[in-house]
Amino acid sequence: MIIGVIGAMIEEIEPLVKDLNLKRKLQKANMEFNEGSLWGNEVVVVKSGIGKVNAAVCTQILIDEFKVDAVINVGVAGGVGNNVYPGDVVIGESLVQHDMDSTAFGERRGQIPRLDTFDFKCDENLVLKAKRACEKMNNSKHFVGRIVTGDQFIADTDKIKWLNEEFDALACEMEGGSVAQVCYLNNIPFVVIRSASDNANNGAHMDYEKFKPIAVNNSVNILKNMLEVM
Ligand code: ADE
Repeated sequence: MIIGVIGAMIEEIEPLVKDLNLKRKLQKANMEFNEGSLWGNEVVVVKSGIGKVNAAVCTQILIDEFKVDAVINVGVAGGVGNNVYPGDVVIGESLVQHDMDSTAFGERRGQIPRLDTFDFKCDENLVLKAKRACEKMNNSKHFVGRIVTGDQFIADTDKIKWLNEEFDALACEMEGGSVAQVCYLNNIPFVVIRSASDNANNGAHMDYEKFKPIAVNNSVNILKNMLEVM
């Protein structure tokens, strides 16, 4: 089993690449794919870059070129759920792209027109493994629920309220929903694991810098605990 591991930013994958027993590096679409073994598993670790297009291209390359059997997207997120605070972990149960808007045609916000699903469901088995990994680390709270994705860094109290009410979202970020869509189209199991770096509110960009290292550390540790038992 080969697992593709995607982080959007160098900070999110650096600790993984450091521990990776590297077999091969491949450059494609301005991304560096690091193939090797990590904590007992065959993996390809890659920095996708930020946003949905980068994440989609990256995921499709993992599937086509590396024949990955599953994809795990790790990183930071804005906390949207009422009790989700910086440092807390959100394991995606499903993903929706909150910036997809065809309401002019009567579609629900987030619905991709002419696609046979509203949300993209994470693989139940991977969710369970992520949950078990979280339970082993008793220094942070974890939640399982919906994560929403858009090409926007959310730093607006009204917008987080809306994301929570409209989508029942626990966290917002900028790649997961796109990784999810590509995996859905290719029938590849996936899970998105995010740790909150901020509360997506008016001071989000400041909290983000402060809490990012803690959040990155959390998502890396969960992945480690997960891979060790896979
Ligand atoms: N990633 C981390 N914090 C975020 C936020 N507030 N909005 C979007 N993506 C994020």
